[in-house]
Amino acid sequence: MTFADADPRLQGLATRVTDAFAREFGGDATIVVAAPGRVNLIGEHTDYSDGFVLPAAIDRHIVIAARPRADRTVQLYAADMRESAQFDLDDLRPDTNRRWSNYERGVAWALQGAGYTLQGMDAVVAGDVPVASGLSSSAAIEVATAFTFQTLSDLDLDGVERALLCQKAENEFVGMRCGIMDQYIISLGRRDHALLIDCRSLDYELVPVPAGVSLVICDTQKRRGLVDSEYNTRRNECEAGARALGVPALRDVSVATFEARQDELAPVTRKRCRHVITENQRVLDAVDALGRDDLQRFGELMNASHVSLRDDYEVSCAELDAMVEAAWRQPGVLGARMTGAGFGGCTVNLVQDEATEAFQHSVAREYTDATGLEPRIYVCAAEDGVRLLRRA
Ligand code: GLA
Repeated sequence: MTFADADPRLQGLATRVTDAFAREFGGDATIVVAAPGRVNLIGEHTDYSDGFVLPAAIDRHIVIAARPRADRTVQLYAADMRESAQFDLDDLRPDTNRRWSNYERGVAWALQGAGYTLQGMDAVVAGDVPVASGLSSSAAIEVATAFTFQTLSDLDLDGVERALLCQKAENEFVGMRCGIMDQYIISLGRRDHALLIDCRSLDYELVPVPAGVSLVICDTQKRRGLVDSEYNTRRNECEAGARALGVPALRDVSVATFEARQDELAPVTRKRCRHVITENQRVLDAVDALGRDDLQRFGELMNASHVSLRDDYEVSCAELDAMVEAAWRQPGVLGARMTGAGFGGCTVNLVQDEATEAFQHSVAREYTDATGLEPRIYVCAAEDGVRLLRRA
């Protein structure tokens, strides 16, 4: 069996899901779909204020092998957990026992709610995107599921609409009020590029990942706690800030306007607003720096982003700070910051290629000395968004 993608990790995953499919359901899957995880280079907690983000899809994936059914049943097998779940497309409700299947259920619910007619299917899901690490394994499951339904049911759905419907599934079916960034980059990512996404217009600009540097992701192994409740609190605080400043969203406030009017805001709201408003400017400055090949400046902006997330937005934690501080001490590091929602999970580091090997050893050692935890470190490449690996 051959797959359209040469990446050996991905081929291994594809073989794993097709083998599991034959065991669970008998016979062959008719399609195999892959959706990547993501890392955000800069622009954190700005998407739900209509702002700017600069994520890349990464070479870690959720893979689905599927075959259509003649009825309205969806049978799922999660190979990594060795668990099954089943649901009826005419009766979609969240499941409190098999919570993992709520992403697939929610996507079916959102697609049907938008008027698309779905076919039942048998499907096996597996992946190598670390779970609960801030690399968006859940958004990857959503987008992979949407793409699988879309392919089997022959739906005419573009990448932006797919992202919006997956976000709707997560917001309204799963109950997490995430922004659009994760589903968007997983839907539309491009190999060797980050995407500058305008989260208001939903347009994007391709930004090449510069040559000579590696994207290194350091997983603190501190699982994200608190994240759901604190995330929703931050959203409310941003909305309160926008109301107080009389604008539709914080995207509409420049750094200069904020500085002139910040005394009108209550202290906590002021800090939250300062993060979002300065972070939006940092994203634009970072893209500008990349355009001028000024990696030094890009790295400084990443570092400033971390400080702002730590002190003003207060979504970092001791482990993320320890990992970032260890990175800042290493030679060849251009910039380092927490990535994703925060409260645990991963940092993203821009490291000169020749320093990457030594970086991994030293950061791991210094992080373990500081926290007692063993980190995981991944050197990643920027990947394409969701895609069909094989069709029978
Ligand atoms: C999570 C959400 C995104 C975004 C980030 C923070 O990953 O799903 O929409 O808000 O947090 O930048």
